[in-house]
Amino acid sequence: NSSRIVVIGSCSIDFTTYAPRLPIPGETLHGTKFTTSYGGKGANQCVAAAKLGGNAFMICRVGDDLWGQKYKHHLQSIGVDVSNVFITENMTTGIAQITVAENGDNQIVIVPGANGQLKNVDVDKSKNLIASADILIGQLEVPFETVLEAFKISKGLKLLNAAPGRDNIQSILPYCTILCVNESEASIISELPVHNIETATDALKKLQSMGSEIIIITLGEKGALYVSKTEPPTHVLCDAIVPVDTTGAGDAFVGALATYIIRYKDKPLHQLIGAACEVASESVTKEGTQTSYPSNHIPFTKEYKYIRI
Ligand code: RIB
Ligand code: NA
Repeated sequence: NSSRIVVIGSCSIDFTTYAPRLPIPGETLHGTKFTTSYGGKGANQCVAAAKLGGNAFMICRVGDDLWGQKYKHHLQSIGVDVSNVFITENMTTGIAQITVAENGDNQIVIVPGANGQLKNVDVDKSKNLIASADILIGQLEVPFETVLEAFKISKGLKLLNAAPGRDNIQSILPYCTILCVNESEASIISELPVHNIETATDALKKLQSMGSEIIIITLGEKGALYVSKTEPPTHVLCDAIVPVDTTGAGDAFVGALATYIIRYKDKPLHQLIGAACEVASESVTKEGTQTSYPSNHIPFTKEYKYIRI
């Protein structure tokens, strides 16, 4: 399948400690394990797509440190096109400091480094690629204006994962085919409380009035809620699993959804979302982000359950 999946976004190194639980402010805990791995929402989504056999391209910036070089080689080794992985001099590659608790919860502090240097000139350099994308994916770990500019020039489907949560992103919503957010991000953008299916449905409707064609709110183990121009709010359910590490599960969902949406054009949205939930669930059963993404997932082996609201 040669349909192009183009991701514009972050590329970060994750420094992850595993601990019995998350520390409270001022507390020092004994952790059980430390790992250094490839992360960043943009690259995670790109790798998720590539691992599922997608023709994936990454537009990002790394620093001129060892991590930047290693990251580029890493992406290449997975089959991601790295012609638009740019290097910023005298800058560190982005990093994330992550703590994962035994119940699968996590806490993340990111330092953007070179991710913060991905600018409109880079969109300009990548404009042929962006224009040729069957689907363009963006997130918010790089400057908002950069993502906005890329979404303006893209001619294919556009999927915005508005993560991490921030307000003042209304201007990009009319350019989005799909807006995908979790509950807290949905709450920030809609300015409504979101804590159950009912409140999430209210947020869904408000978000829909802000411009995107399709809105998806991911609900963790409860699956996802979506609405489109032709469908009412719909809850796609997902099978229960025992969580080990939820870090990057949202990225697995986004990468899988993008891959399947352009590969299985005849499938209804609830089944595509169900398949993406299945990929995200699988990632949650293993430690790490990219290392936990499946490369042998077979979607639609069953009909995914969904409820019209
Ligand atoms: O979504 C998970 C990612 O967010 C991690 O890989 C980390 O880099 C943070 O940015
Ligand atoms: Na995982």
